[in-house]
Amino acid sequence: MRQLIRGRVLDFHADPTETEDSHRFFEDGAILIEDGIIRAVGDYTALREDGLAEIDHRPNLILPGFIDPHIHFPQVQVIASWGAQLLDWLNHYTFPAEAEYGDPAHAQAMAGRFLDLLTAHGTTSAVAFCSVHAESAEALFSAAEAKGMAMIAGKVMMDRNARDDLHDTAQSGYDDSKALIERWHGRGRQRYAISPRFAITSTPEQLSAAGTLAAEHSDCLIQTHMSENCDEIAYTLSLYPEARDYLDIYDTHGLLSSRTLLGHSIHLEPREIARMAETGSRAVFCPTSNLFLGSGLFDAAGLRAAGITAGIATDVGGGTSYSMLQTLNEGYKILQLLGQKLTPLAAFHWATRGNAITLGMEDRIGTLAPGSDADLVVLDARATPAMALRMERAETLAEELFILQIMGDDRAVAQTYVAGKPMKPTAV
Ligand code: GUN
Ligand code: ZN
Repeated sequence: MRQLIRGRVLDFHADPTETEDSHRFFEDGAILIEDGIIRAVGDYTALREDGLAEIDHRPNLILPGFIDPHIHFPQVQVIASWGAQLLDWLNHYTFPAEAEYGDPAHAQAMAGRFLDLLTAHGTTSAVAFCSVHAESAEALFSAAEAKGMAMIAGKVMMDRNARDDLHDTAQSGYDDSKALIERWHGRGRQRYAISPRFAITSTPEQLSAAGTLAAEHSDCLIQTHMSENCDEIAYTLSLYPEARDYLDIYDTHGLLSSRTLLGHSIHLEPREIARMAETGSRAVFCPTSNLFLGSGLFDAAGLRAAGITAGIATDVGGGTSYSMLQTLNEGYKILQLLGQKLTPLAAFHWATRGNAITLGMEDRIGTLAPGSDADLVVLDARATPAMALRMERAETLAEELFILQIMGDDRAVAQTYVAGKPMKPTAV
């Protein structure tokens, strides 16, 4: 099926923090889609054809769909749990909620609602932690496949320091992950992420098993958590007394490469920063979570200067919003506290092409380049009365983007397309 989606079209081909020639913008633009793939982008007048189905989103902006590179599927009912920092929050709220995902019916019911929330917020792809149960990953992949969404996910491996009903073993964590990789990795748009939760909840044997999986499946991403919270770091180092630092634990178990996503990466030693750069490991900034759990301030400019690629993510349910707009809003404020600047163009680059690069998937998602999957978000900068009033004084695209970034949320998402299909009901 061929269709033309018309609107004010924006995407990025370079990082605005590195060059002025970072994006293209068509005030009356269009995207030609065929069978879920972008075939052409340009001025509407150049792309229109007699008889071609058209949807007109003017005056709204159309961008590549947002990518969320760190989110926890079984925490949909944990988000907004009061009063704790990381380790207490995990024990009191998160682990009990995740224990319910061994029930396939619960996992399936939540998977559909989780994906609906993502697309309602303009997110078209995510890298998700599932619970320890293979059933939870199975439910998420099945639901994503049914929706046509590119999901990167993995069951967490965790064999200690949680609760008995959330523990796998080094062997069963390996076996279950392997079976899920064989079943789902590369099936349609689904990909597997090898997911040792973090060093506290894995024995050295389990981290070795995860390293073996990483070596055996060299095209799978690896996701974990690192240096989020000071008590976490102290506890981790007490469990691995031989380690030079936190990163060294993952390093010595064969878990560092350009496929590795290290969630949080806040309280880093100079040696860790140098080693992350050397191995190509990625950092993932989770602003709403870092503020909510009182974890700390992510040094985006410092890591960039060291040559480290970083993504930006919600980290729901430690994070407090599914919205990448709200995530960019809080990210802007954290960087303000550090004396760093996040420009509107850099922000929207980050949530789209920047995150795709972090995942090594920029050939398929994150831009509107011909051949990419037609995952799009349509943004309405006048979605609320307060936004509309502020927009009366907006003169530039950058101002409009900033209003979306600071004031926007799911109300500003007029439509989301996944592989060319609208996810919100359309008016007839
Ligand atoms: N570290 C280990 N597990 C988690 C988690 O579920 N959320 C956050 N924010 N940090 C973690
Ligand atoms: Zn997390």
